[in-house]
Amino acid sequence: MKRTEIKQLFLLEPQNQEVLVKGWVRTFRANRFIALNDGSTINNLQVVVDFEQLDESLLKRINTSAALSITGTLVPSQGKGQSVEVVATEVEVLGDADPAEYPIQPKKHSLEFLREKAHLRMRTSTFSAVFRIRHTMAYAIHHYFHTNGFFYMHSPIVTGSDAEGAGEMFRVSTLDPVNPPMTEDGNVDWKEDFFGKETNLTVSGQLEAEVGAMSLGKVYTFGPTFRAENSNTTRHLAEFWMIEPEVAFIDLEGNMDLAEDFLKFVISFIMEHNADDLAFLDNRIQQEEKNMKQADRRPMGLMETLKFVVENEFERITYTEAINILRNSKPYKKGKFEYDVEWGKDLQSEHERYLVEKKFLKPVIVTDYPRDIKAFYMKQNPDDKTVAAMDILFPGIGEVVGGSQREESLEKLMNRVHEMEIPEEDLWWYLELRKYGTAPHAGFGLGFERLMLFVTGMGNIRDVIPFPRAPKSADF
Ligand code: 4AD
Ligand code: MG
Repeated sequence: MKRTEIKQLFLLEPQNQEVLVKGWVRTFRANRFIALNDGSTINNLQVVVDFEQLDESLLKRINTSAALSITGTLVPSQGKGQSVEVVATEVEVLGDADPAEYPIQPKKHSLEFLREKAHLRMRTSTFSAVFRIRHTMAYAIHHYFHTNGFFYMHSPIVTGSDAEGAGEMFRVSTLDPVNPPMTEDGNVDWKEDFFGKETNLTVSGQLEAEVGAMSLGKVYTFGPTFRAENSNTTRHLAEFWMIEPEVAFIDLEGNMDLAEDFLKFVISFIMEHNADDLAFLDNRIQQEEKNMKQADRRPMGLMETLKFVVENEFERITYTEAINILRNSKPYKKGKFEYDVEWGKDLQSEHERYLVEKKFLKPVIVTDYPRDIKAFYMKQNPDDKTVAAMDILFPGIGEVVGGSQREESLEKLMNRVHEMEIPEEDLWWYLELRKYGTAPHAGFGLGFERLMLFVTGMGNIRDVIPFPRAPKSADF
């Protein structure tokens, strides 16, 4: 007999037909009701067993997280909340889970505790919902770009250049760390290394995506990205996934329009295709906030927040306007900000959150940042002080997107390369794009996990990637 996945089973008309289901036990109540889950949906299937007909020894093996194969008949459900249930005629234990040892009990565990059990946490409702949404989100992203004429481009993971110029890279080397070959002047001789030069894990696929855009017109990358920044926060990972569209013949305005349209599409897609998972996560947050003070609770529920973002225009302001707003704000005047607000300094997340959560109450796109706090490749504005940059700030998260129009003038770009002492020899190919058929172009980078934090309402970025990598943490 062919097995039916639980998600499909819920769509069937119950007519006492025989079905075969497989899954893991979530709970077993009163020696009679098994809540079975096979990962296909957040909803558990209720299986009713006739314990008088079941062998005593079999009964003892129906424990949380045991894997079962069950044959039975599909009947209308007696309980509420589900349409059908299965009355078991045959139960086979495929794999036991000793209740004395299985670490995840059918009770509420903290997310921190579950992080230490990353190999089992996907069996909980919360994490299975998060990772089903993660899948749909990845699919939605490809769908959006494909239907809008973009080409998916694979940028390399091992690179010889530092795209962001921030120096936060993981070295890739096969040299003996204890006894590396040395040059005559006492330095490590990287010429002897695997690639014959110093190489690192990529911090961004943008520079390569620009090559794609300047030939194919519209491309995007979507791949793993690595940053060795020592940021032990709820919003940083050492290994994360980034989506980087790059488009020829558009300016900053076109870039903002693309980002806004894209974000609204992928969020709507999740709302449509993962409604059950979102409802579960929404409810989970409400339960969590029950005992909190009103002031600490989120202003809106999860679904409400998503709907709000999809239905409203993002606010667009310049960095200079943002600085003025912040300097005139209550928290600034009362000395409540930890970091200073001054033209020329980067916005800190407390400032970003003020703009989004207190001032505008919706996503905000901040443009035209000071040149000196942004990367070398951004298009220089005529004021000689700012660049055509854009950051998109989301409620509860802060920066989700960073992007810009790119400097297309070889001369201006070279000036920045020299001023910032960027190693030219690593970037000759990038610079040549400005020599042969240069044109205005723009793009942005979206942190996949930052977006996942937003759509799931989870509080820590380590809980929206299956196996997080962060400072001092690369288990599993
Ligand atoms: O703002 P960033 O550094 O921009 C770039 O890398 C550009 N090359 C993108 C481009 O224009 N093509 O990073 C882009 C986004 C951030 O807005 C953030 O969402 C995410 O990547 N990000 C991180 N996410 C998780 N952990 C980290 N350590 C991150 N660093 C950046
Ligand atoms: Mg950024």
